[in-house]
Amino acid sequence: MIMAAGLGGCQLKDPKYQLYYVEGEQLYNKHCSNCHQKNGTGLGRVYPPLANADYLDLHFDEIGCLIKYGRRGEILVNGEHFNQPMPGVPLLTELEIAEIMTYVGNTWGHEKGLVDVRSVAGKLETCISE
Ligand code: HEC
Repeated sequence: MIMAAGLGGCQLKDPKYQLYYVEGEQLYNKHCSNCHQKNGTGLGRVYPPLANADYLDLHFDEIGCLIKYGRRGEILVNGEHFNQPMPGVPLLTELEIAEIMTYVGNTWGHEKGLVDVRSVAGKLETCISE
């Protein structure tokens, strides 16, 4: 289903953005919503929110690595501490990661615009050795 939320403003007419966003929403619902919930609110003290999350805004460049390889250790999101390992989804392609980032980066209060597959590819090279 196409949500009006992330499709507003001047990006309305960009077909690439719309495609990434719609595909990204489906991928999010498949790979992420179990924990972060369909509406991005997270779950209690266990799974941090993506909705209006300051962490997502401040560390957006690192989210590609996080999606692919996961994360562990304490993390501060909107003033709340979380500390629960997040498993990565290594099978996702660079395109799929760009689509997921376009979705989460333009929903629930975020306005990052289109995340291009080439920028994801460049970022992933910086995290590959971990
Ligand atoms: C098994 C549950 C689980 C799944 C599935 C999962 N996450 Fe997470 N995610 C977590 C946990 C737990 C943390 C906190 C990690 C820590 O404590 O270091 C986290 C942290 C994050 C963060 C940084 C903190 C924040 O709230 O901004 C982002 C962004 C994120 N996840 C996005 C995603 C995306 C996108 C997907 C799908 C590709 C995904 N996660 C799948 C559990 C999950």
